[in-house]
Amino acid sequence: MSIQQLNIQAKTAVSLFLLFVITATISSVILLGLELSGKKRGLNIPTISQIKNQYTTPTLVAAMRGNMYEHVSADEDIDTVNAWIQEGAKKEGTLYEESSKIIKQDCTNCHSKSSKMTKAIPSMPFDTYEQVLSHTDAGYSWSKMSKQAHIHMFGISTFLVLISLLFAYTTYKETIKNVLIIGSFGGAFLDIFSWWFSKFVPELVYLIFIMGGLMVSSILLMSLLVLANIWKKQG
Ligand code: HEC
Repeated sequence: MSIQQLNIQAKTAVSLFLLFVITATISSVILLGLELSGKKRGLNIPTISQIKNQYTTPTLVAAMRGNMYEHVSADEDIDTVNAWIQEGAKKEGTLYEESSKIIKQDCTNCHSKSSKMTKAIPSMPFDTYEQVLSHTDAGYSWSKMSKQAHIHMFGISTFLVLISLLFAYTTYKETIKNVLIIGSFGGAFLDIFSWWFSKFVPELVYLIFIMGGLMVSSILLMSLLVLANIWKKQG
């Protein structure tokens, strides 16, 4: 059997589903690009250095280079905070004093339990040394990582299995089916796997980049191919 045998209503539902998937996939790339680049609009394909920044540098520094960049008064301040963290984020010395001053000036008007700013985030205060210290680990924290991983894996696998089933019943060659189905699942799995492990092996950021690209391109390609196949006139 093939998807071309579905009735018109089923074909319409499948096509609308695929349009949702395509839009959602492009939206996720837009969101990732905005978060990593600190820009406000447009499609910004993430670069290796941005990915490296996100997954292997301390959260505090990554945010200063990324989506909190607009609040940083001088680029040197990012280096100062980074240097303080690289030297152990100790509660003493000039780097500590300078970093505290930077955070107090640029960040604690929002990042404070007592902040009254409209865009404040009192749930992530930088009022004390200990609070700041908790954001100095390399890469994502374990809790952020496991949150991201399970949401992504449940979500992606659910629609991926649907697209794969549809794609499996198209009239394309077996090899194309095998490559794209395995590519999309394999890409998604290795992408998320390398988020975790790039904490310990920084070279894995290349795997994040390649596997993320593989996943996104095979999802888009399968969706478009199913759309083309399902409406093709049967000869
Ligand atoms: C105008 C208010 C405001 C200022 C100023 C501000 N932040 Fe934020 N920050 C937020 C909000 C709101 C969030 C949560 C939503 C988001 O990520 O945009 C956040 C999130 C974060 C996060 C969480 C991770 C992330 O990237 O989302 C970090 C780390 C962070 N800020 C660091 C900083 C640092 C360091 C500074 C100072 C240079 C700073 N922020 C200045 C409002 C602010």
